[in-house]
Amino acid sequence: MKSPTGAMIHVFPHLDSLIEAAANALTDHVVRAVDGHEFYTLALSGGNTPQPLYRRLATGPYRDLAPWDRVKVFFADERAVPPTHPDSNWLMAWEAWLRDGPIPSRQIFRMEGEAGDLHEAAQRYSETLTHEVYSGPTGFPALDLVLLGLGQDGHTASLFPQTAALDETLRVVAANDVPQLGAKRLTLTYPAIDAAREVWFMVSGAAKARRVAQCLGFIAGGDNLPATLVRPLGGNLHWWLDAAAAAQLPQGV
Ligand code: 6PG
Repeated sequence: MKSPTGAMIHVFPHLDSLIEAAANALTDHVVRAVDGHEFYTLALSGGNTPQPLYRRLATGPYRDLAPWDRVKVFFADERAVPPTHPDSNWLMAWEAWLRDGPIPSRQIFRMEGEAGDLHEAAQRYSETLTHEVYSGPTGFPALDLVLLGLGQDGHTASLFPQTAALDETLRVVAANDVPQLGAKRLTLTYPAIDAAREVWFMVSGAAKARRVAQCLGFIAGGDNLPATLVRPLGGNLHWWLDAAAAAQLPQGV
């Protein structure tokens, strides 16, 4: 079913079934999208929701179902911490999937959250993306897939409400001051996310239900939320929800 904002919505009874379906869909997407290309390029998010997906992909059948040796992994955002810190998105993905998974480590590209100058780190990661990923029609690197989450305040990646990175139109990656967290982050910008061939949000839990309905345009109040403003140019926007997160969508969605 499509939302009023044009996103494809996929609802599953539980987080487990959502994760299983997302693991299948991701594996299938890698197989299809890499056909005729050298590499498949994927950007990961942090947070709690995707962790079981990463664990799932590290195990069992998924390891053998796609040519993972032709996948390059990037990050949608990173906290301003070293890669050994429990808050590091890289550490989470590394421990859950990448450390023991089949993707060669030379094809895993970490944002330098520990950098003294995050603007320089953002610039270096922009250059890495530009070098490693084919450009799309807008001149921005066109990742095959960006995985995103949704915060209770409507943020996604590290695009938080009322922060400067929301207005970035030229850079691929921004260093973003997030006063409401008293923290700095590195984040893909809108033009970088929107250049991706596919963008998938994964959201679970009742605490996000109202925001989900707002971002998808079913109830008022979502127009200016950072997650609502993600609009991939090719139109391939998918929201993967468990029933609790979908609870405020109309019946039948
Ligand atoms: C991060 C993120 C962030 C996350 C949302 C949802 O670094 O925290 O990438 O945008 O996706 O905050 O996080 P949860 O899945 O933990 O709710």
